[in-house]
Amino acid sequence: MISLVCVSQPTCWTRSRKETLDDIQAVSQARNSALNVTGVLIATTTHFAHVLEGPKDAVESVLTSIMSDPRHCRVNVVRRTPIFRRRFPVWRLARMDRGRFASFALAGTLKRLHTAPDRETLHHFDQLTDALARSYHTTLT
Ligand SMILES: Cc1cc2nc3c(=O)[nH]c(=O)nc-3n(C[C@H](O)[C@H](O)[C@H](O)COP(=O)(O)O)c2cc1C
Repeated sequence: MISLVCVSQPTCWTRSRKETLDDIQAVSQARNSALNVTGVLIATTTHFAHVLEGPKDAVESVLTSIMSDPRHCRVNVVRRTPIFRRRFPVWRLARMDRGRFASFALAGTLKRLHTAPDRETLHHFDQLTDALARSYHTTLT
């Protein structure tokens, strides 16, 4: 199995933000579950950050679709590693604008992850996604 982290920027929200995220969530839940791919997608107003994990071919196939999706741009794969155990039992979407995850300085972390993904930033991102993995709800607002 592999795990990858990719970060991108939403293009203009042609439909409403909620409708766009609902569409992504619906297709992802169906396709990822069929392909045995899990992970988390974090959506802020300025960035998407995505962890995908599962069989290599399945993850790469989902990534190929994601790379050509016009709803975002500047898609950077910032880490790709072999794994033996999943961190996420199911695929989930976390919509984060404010509130409970403010302490993670989310906007700054995702911006650095997108442009200069050093070890410290990746570590911080892992802490954030660990907190998400522990939380019960699929969708956080
Ligand atoms: C930020 C972002 C994350 C996405 N994540 C997934 C995902 O995890 N799984 C998935 O199947 N599609 C995901 N999609 C949707 C895909 O880009 C694509 O529309 C969908 O998989 C259908 O693939 P196809 O057009 O190759 O049939 C995502 C799209 C965006 C913009």
